[in-house]
Amino acid sequence: MSKVTVVGAGNVGATAANVLAVKNVASEVVLIDIKEGVAEGKAMDIMQTAQSIGFDTVVKGVTNKYEETAGSDVVVITSGIPRKPGMTREELLGVNAGIVKSVCEQALKYSPNTIFVVVSNPMDAMAYLTLKATGVAKNRVIGMGGMLDSSRFKYFLSQKLGCNARDVDGFVIGGHGDKTMIPMTRFATYKGIPVTECISEAELEEVAAQTMVGGATLTGLLGTSAWMAPGASIAFLVDSIINDQKKMIPCSVYLEGEYGFKDVNIGVPCIIGKNGVEKIVELKLNEKEQALFKASYEATAATTATLHEINAI
Ligand code: LAC
Repeated sequence: MSKVTVVGAGNVGATAANVLAVKNVASEVVLIDIKEGVAEGKAMDIMQTAQSIGFDTVVKGVTNKYEETAGSDVVVITSGIPRKPGMTREELLGVNAGIVKSVCEQALKYSPNTIFVVVSNPMDAMAYLTLKATGVAKNRVIGMGGMLDSSRFKYFLSQKLGCNARDVDGFVIGGHGDKTMIPMTRFATYKGIPVTECISEAELEEVAAQTMVGGATLTGLLGTSAWMAPGASIAFLVDSIINDQKKMIPCSVYLEGEYGFKDVNIGVPCIIGKNGVEKIVELKLNEKEQALFKASYEATAATTATLHEINAI
């Protein structure tokens, strides 16, 4: 028996619940929202695909009834407002901080041992807020951003290489912001071949730039922020927790000196298993990457510091 709660039945939350069900990641998924009927409706819609797709997960939708989330192994927080075209993720901080704080406190009451996966933006600051507001151990708060950014990096790489998207590997670290994410071009591979052997440095830089504004590009096209890849990335991460897969996934986690920084949530490669963050993988960054990581830390820490200014923590 495994139970996952997804807070927020908007596009991202509902897609996450859908992928969690379709892939049979957990036996039970509770979708919860403050808007009367929305979570119930989306859960029912998902359940009506169980036979045609073939899954056994039970998805239940509830309005505000946190008691229904009791005993969740994982609580995914997607609540809050999404970006509109032209907005940065950081501009959402004031509104979303109040929502995320109240959500994580209520969820913890009914699932005292749960692991939090934080998705609401600005994600790194919201993960930090969840950690401070709940007071749980740092391994139990995981910000989901690096998985999504890495998916976009691999997509753009495969477009440039003209190859199967699954033949490409690569990852993104740093903050989950248009200017703070760091696509690790040096380590990207095409079926084990360094991509630096396949495309020029200028082409690789172009792919990195496309990745960094990947979310903003979609917000421009869709009029709101994306949900397919975010939902799938959440499910991938939750799968590694629920089924103790110990996958290496870049996640926004609390640093205490790793990579030379502390008291911040920022994206770094982690081993994710049943205990949440089981290990932070410390890579040896070269000089250029170190400078990028320092700048990313400074911007992410500045956004996070706003939480104190608005008395959110
Ligand atoms: C994005 C949002 C979910 O990057 O942060 O699409």
